Amino acid sequence: MPLVTTKEMFEKSMKEKFAIGAFNVNNMEIIQGIVDAAAKENSPVILQASSGAIKYARIPYLRKMIEAALEEHDIPIALHLDHGPDFETCKMCIDNGFTSVMIDGSKYDFEQNVALTKQVVDYAHSKGVVVEAEIGQLAGIEDDVNVSDSDAKYTDPEQAKEFVERTGCDSLAIAIGTSHGAYKFKGEAKLRFDILKQIKELIPNTPIVLHGASTVIPELVELCNNNGGEIPGAKGVPDEMLHQASLEGVSKINVDTDLRLAMTGAIREVFNNEPSVFDPRKYLTPARDLIEQTVQHKIRDVFGSSNKA
Ligand code: G3H
Ligand code: 13P
Ligand code: ZN
Repeated sequence: MPLVTTKEMFEKSMKEKFAIGAFNVNNMEIIQGIVDAAAKENSPVILQASSGAIKYARIPYLRKMIEAALEEHDIPIALHLDHGPDFETCKMCIDNGFTSVMIDGSKYDFEQNVALTKQVVDYAHSKGVVVEAEIGQLAGIEDDVNVSDSDAKYTDPEQAKEFVERTGCDSLAIAIGTSHGAYKFKGEAKLRFDILKQIKELIPNTPIVLHGASTVIPELVELCNNNGGEIPGAKGVPDEMLHQASLEGVSKINVDTDLRLAMTGAIREVFNNEPSVFDPRKYLTPARDLIEQTVQHKIRDVFGSSNKA
């Protein structure tokens, strides 16, 4: 099956109340780990590359590796640009076979975000590509924002509605308390499900996206730290909350940090236990296996997208 857009998978996710995992890819082992897991679960999957990933792996390699995945597996796979910073980057990806792009105008004011998003939507739609946009800013201790109700820049539901109507974007990333990276919460994890509910009431047909949604799986953090890593106090969004989000209208859940932890933890463990190893396959194989297990767990036990291919 060729690459697909996210249109049909999101329609199904909204109708049947499940979420689709969007996993960040940077190299072959990560791609293989993700698609092997999705194929085992017979699940749709979104592979997303950031500008940094594109710079690192280079577009022809990403494309060809994903073509290989399509050759091996008969599941719906979308190729998405994560956090497109400007029109030019989005255009480059659209012109190079991506089926979906994100234009991240959340750093701009509302009117500038609308104008930039609309420009990308017009070009993307003329080429049959779909667009994710973002409104509101992800909070987190990373930005020195101590996630509290008063100072986090949560998405305003009325603004979200106006934004979707004016831009014609196909899906919308919202801020309800998640943040990127391994340090999402100082105290207890908390997401504003009340805001999600209001947004879904106002724009019921717009697929909603959750960025910064890694669990920061404690076992993976421990695996890193027990083998020489230094990632103290890391904390993410618990599985139960992500599962709730998948039932309450979130269609796409973004995961990068958990894959980084899996890969790094597995490699650290080999280096620690077998210092004489220097064949990359000896440590990249367990890394790929742990990515696969991690993705399979999310698809099956958290997002509910097994057998939804
Ligand atoms: O949200 C950002 C993703 O984790 C991608 O990170 O820009 O370092 O590739 P990156
Ligand atoms: P995490 O850092 O929580 O994995 O979020 C990834 C993400 O949002 C990619 O766009
Ligand atoms: Zn993100």
